[in-house]
Amino acid sequence: MTEGHVFIATSLDGFIARPDHGLDWLTGRDFSGEDHGYAAFLAEMDGIVMGSATFRTVAGFDPWPYALPVVVASRSMTTADLPPALSQRVRVMADPPAALMARLGAEGWQRAYVDGGALIRSFLAAGLIRRLTITTVPVLIGAGRPLFGGTGADIALHHAETRSFPSGLVQSTYRVPAP
Ligand SMILES: NC(=O)c1ccc[n+]([C@@H]2O[C@H](COP(=O)([O-])OP(=O)(O)OC[C@H]3O[C@@H](n4cnc5c(N)ncnc54)[C@H](OP(=O)(O)O)[C@@H]3O)[C@@H](O)[C@H]2O)c1
Repeated sequence: MTEGHVFIATSLDGFIARPDHGLDWLTGRDFSGEDHGYAAFLAEMDGIVMGSATFRTVAGFDPWPYALPVVVASRSMTTADLPPALSQRVRVMADPPAALMARLGAEGWQRAYVDGGALIRSFLAAGLIRRLTITTVPVLIGAGRPLFGGTGADIALHHAETRSFPSGLVQSTYRVPAP
């Protein structure tokens, strides 16, 4: 079974995007000279599993930002909905979380970068996430797409590390024990 790992930025009030999916509160900041560990994180991953809402945002990025293979989790999209330029780099899978991770495990993926708030929550609820690295941006945006909520029974986390950066980012990493 592939392990899920999360590396995500949130506002201090817990949102990963504005209600209209805007990311200006994150991308409009100056982080020059800071290494937040994203490249090192990616180097440990075999691929990326993202929710379809996240895919719709990143599909508009030019150039395409990922070297790793990408799987879009979607029950409404099909491979036919992918832009032609991405058809060799992106697949769509409709499997429930555990079945999806088992399928990727059978392909040899040991670790997947799981991205998108709703997708992360459902993978957490299914016990498929082993590590959360959450970078908190010092801003309150008041409303938006949440990272957490609705995951059911308590999920106990082990704090591994917290570090802060001159820009005001605070990054905490938690290990999530296997259920
Ligand atoms: N701040 C950051 O670091 C960061 C990181 C990632 C994303 N974002 C932003 O967050 C927003 C997207 O997050 P989101 O929470 O709205 O959506 P999301 O998790 O990206 O996508 C949710 C969609 O994925 C599909 N899906 C398939 N299997 C699922 C499952 N098991 N559980 C849940 N959803 C499943 C569903 O749509 P269908 O099945 O109908 O297709 C669902 O509506 C975007 O604006 C993106 O840019 C920010």
